[in-house]
Amino acid sequence: MSRSTAKGRIVIAIDGPSASGKGTLAHRIAEHLGFAVLDTGLLYRGVAKRLLESGGDPGDAAAAAAAARAVTAAELRDPALRSEQVGEIASRIAAYPAVRQALLALQRDFAANPLDINGNPLPGAVLDGRDIGTVICPDATVKIFVTATTEARAARRHKELLDRGVASIYARVLQDMERRDARDSGRVAAPTKPAADAVVIDSTALDADGVFAAALAIILERIDGAD
Ligand code: DC
Repeated sequence: MSRSTAKGRIVIAIDGPSASGKGTLAHRIAEHLGFAVLDTGLLYRGVAKRLLESGGDPGDAAAAAAAARAVTAAELRDPALRSEQVGEIASRIAAYPAVRQALLALQRDFAANPLDINGNPLPGAVLDGRDIGTVICPDATVKIFVTATTEARAARRHKELLDRGVASIYARVLQDMERRDARDSGRVAAPTKPAADAVVIDSTALDADGVFAAALAIILERIDGAD
């Protein structure tokens, strides 16, 4: 396989802005192919939560980098990581190169050595985030960038919050999303952007099944074509 990484593992990079559908897609693809999956946004959220709990200042890059060096995989299961407050701090600390550097090895190890819950090797890994195809796994077997209009993504996030019983105002969600997008795409360190060799899927007019079908066709074509 020409584009598989060390030891012949298949790596699927799925990037995109928040509420683009990349997380749902990554989990469905991993389940379908029997691969391990890592939501890398949770790493940044884990760092943000650690910082919040220790009373650290999100404006302090050194404190954020120390939290990034201390974050463990076990912490990533905490449902509190999904809150909007944690997401906002995650976006701020993700702009620090030292934070990104501290999380780099963990992500590359996951991609190179995907394991099942019993520690047995799996044939591939799916990682979703912002910079998987550009920085973390530039040699990924397949790179997909999922996007959608800001309005469509804000409407999805608004519905998600209401479904979870969280009070939400669409205009506010839209405003927060525009601010977060500007920060994640405008930063110097690994901004959100498609890799030159990524396939872009616009999910604005697609449901989760439509995005899954489009992505699976791209992945199977690439994997079969590389055999
Ligand atoms: O995907 P998410 O909303 O859980 O990510 C939270 C923040 O983490 C997001 O605003 C930007 C940052 N992030 C990043 O910079 N790089 C990644 N690979 C994943 C997330």
